[in-house]
Amino acid sequence: MTETFKVVNDDIIIRYVTKDDKEAWSKLWKGFQAHYEIKAPNGIEDINFPKFLDPNVKMWSALAIDTKRDKAIGMVNFLSRHSTWDLTEIIYLNDLYVDENERVKGVGRSLIEFVYEEADKMGTPHVYWTTDHFNHRAQMLYTKVSNLTTKVIYRRHGY
Ligand SMILES: CC(C)(COP(=O)(O)OP(=O)(O)OC[C@H]1O[C@@H](n2cnc3c(N)ncnc32)[C@H](O)[C@@H]1OP(=O)(O)O)[C@@H](O)C(=O)NCCC(=O)NCCS
Repeated sequence: MTETFKVVNDDIIIRYVTKDDKEAWSKLWKGFQAHYEIKAPNGIEDINFPKFLDPNVKMWSALAIDTKRDKAIGMVNFLSRHSTWDLTEIIYLNDLYVDENERVKGVGRSLIEFVYEEADKMGTPHVYWTTDHFNHRAQMLYTKVSNLTTKVIYRRHGY
């Protein structure tokens, strides 16, 4: 994976995961599931993580790293998909999570901006995501960096 990284402040950078990040990424992934009180299928991190490192799979993960503590404090997972409505593929921001002790310091915003910058570089600037209507905390951030759509989501089953 590319060496791209984004400087947030003197302490924090955002960068793509490397093969050595599985444990740190899994901890944040588990924190994200605990936050939503949802358990993804057993072993899914063993399926997800290699995809992030595989140049043939258009699914990526980036971590916010506190460089002074050498600690991963936030995670964003995103992927690219075809669209019948766009000239290029579009980016779906699948997961965003910041360690509960590290919030409201700009980390979540920086993770979204990292995705925007990478999407622009890939020539796929359309980025979208969903959240729960009751996730007001996340929406306090989202209203500042994106536009609320009029769409609602239907699904057959699943999360
Ligand atoms: C949503 C989440 C990623 C935001 O991360 P974060 O690092 O706290 O976000 P930021 O600090 O970048 O931005 C929060 C914004 O809300 C504003 N805010 C104001 N009051 C706030 C409050 N009481 N609580 C939270 N945010 C507040 C902040 O000022 C900030 O805006 P700013 O960038 O203009 O300063 C984080 O809360 C999280 O991981 N939540 C649990 C998982 C989750 O809900 N993920 C999203 C799923 S769609």
